[in-house]
Amino acid sequence: MQFQLSEEQLMIQQAARDFAQHELKPGVIERDEHQKFPAEQVKKLGELGFLGMMVDEKYHGSGLDALSYVLVMEELSKIDASASVVVSVNNSLVCYGLEAYGTEAQKEKYLKPLASGEQIGAFCLSEPEAGSDATSQQTTAEDKGDYYLLNGTKNWITNGSTASVYLVIAQTDRSLKHRGINAFIVEKGMEGFTVGPKENKLGIRGSDTNSLMFNDVKVPKENRIGEDGFGFKFAMKTLEGGRIGIAAQALGIATGAYEIALEYAKQRKSFGKPIADHQAIAFKLADMATQIEAARMLVYKAAWLKDQGQPYTLAGSMAKLYASKVAMDVTVEAVQIHGGYGFVKEYHVERMMRDAKITQIYEGTSEIQKMVISREVLK
Ligand code: CAA
Ligand code: FAD
Repeated sequence: MQFQLSEEQLMIQQAARDFAQHELKPGVIERDEHQKFPAEQVKKLGELGFLGMMVDEKYHGSGLDALSYVLVMEELSKIDASASVVVSVNNSLVCYGLEAYGTEAQKEKYLKPLASGEQIGAFCLSEPEAGSDATSQQTTAEDKGDYYLLNGTKNWITNGSTASVYLVIAQTDRSLKHRGINAFIVEKGMEGFTVGPKENKLGIRGSDTNSLMFNDVKVPKENRIGEDGFGFKFAMKTLEGGRIGIAAQALGIATGAYEIALEYAKQRKSFGKPIADHQAIAFKLADMATQIEAARMLVYKAAWLKDQGQPYTLAGSMAKLYASKVAMDVTVEAVQIHGGYGFVKEYHVERMMRDAKITQIYEGTSEIQKMVISREVLK
């Protein structure tokens, strides 16, 4: 068993840490308050190679392992989870999906600009009436010979208005249920495709979340991903890796809040001594540190399994379930340790507490992770 990161992984971790400190931290409060998408920062993340981290260099990616990706997600999320979700979606849902299952022509046309960060992608599975119950897709794609006619609405789409390329899941043959679902590559600007207004959210307010409307959009046949009927499996396989990314995001949020609370507890005094010297506070810090370390082990192990080419469905869901709970618990305690100061924006922890909540909801709620885990352990 090896608990040490390689020289290269340490370098990547440091680069992400520096980026988060120097590029994300200034303005993070303002972006949250005004729901401002971190456009400039995302462009720089692309230049650093952080938007196509695991993609082969021949498709303009960085050719790195999943563990390096997790390290980057963790570091960025310590400071700004609105920026890190862009990295997560582009890497593990969009680029992974295209590289693993796309044709050469699709990779040439769509993967290259996405992996280099020239363009951003979005992954569109959820609908107003189909969230957790993802097989009940209402969006339809009617086979018209050399194209599909796409109709329907997608909800809650991250990078909704900022993306150029959308991977859209739709039902082509309802009688076949999940085996009649397909995945399509849709371009922004295709006739009949419109983007709804940005959602006004509790957390990750800087990230862009929109509904998408498809009204008789003609999608060329060559834009279908995989064999006919592969769309639901495509979504599930892609989400397996996505869940590791969100687990790393949760781990980063928890670590960021813990580090701020630790420093604060050493400086803030009450009853003549630092509050860290009161056992009630010291024990909170002990619990937070322990939970974070346990979450880190689960997240790193899931990434390691993926890098080894071993199954990671179970490990990924466990990592997401646990790390997201830790993110919630730790950020609540970080606010508590700050007392009244924790309740105002300047101290960052209230934002982290709001941001943490989404990690228990998207890419499969905690209840859905328990479904996946229980099915795996009962197999
Ligand atoms: N890999 C491959 N195939 C899989 C699979 C996997 N991990 N999981 C399921 N399948 C296949 C099954 O084998 C089955 O196919 P066959 O009948 O051909 O064998 C088919 O999919 C249906 O499987 P189930 O019967 O298990 O389906 P279900 O209706 O019980 O649902 C579920 C399973 C796990 C709950 C699934 O619906 C699910 O994951 N729901 C959550 C949706 C979700 O995570 N959405 C996230 C949207 S993206 C997002 O959120 C991005 C973001 O925020 C940034
Ligand atoms: P529902 O499925 O209606 O669930 C409601 C509640 O019931 C939850 O607590 C759920 O856990 C529980 N529940 C449902 N079924 C069961 C069951 N069988 N057993 C036990 N409990 C159950 N989706 C995308 O496709 N792409 C994106 O980029 C994307 N980004 C998002 C960004 C944000 C900010 C948000 C809020 C959501 C995003 N989503 C995205 C959607 C997200 O994946 C869904 O919200 C999530 O999967 C839950 O679906 P739902 O909201 O319809 O809740």
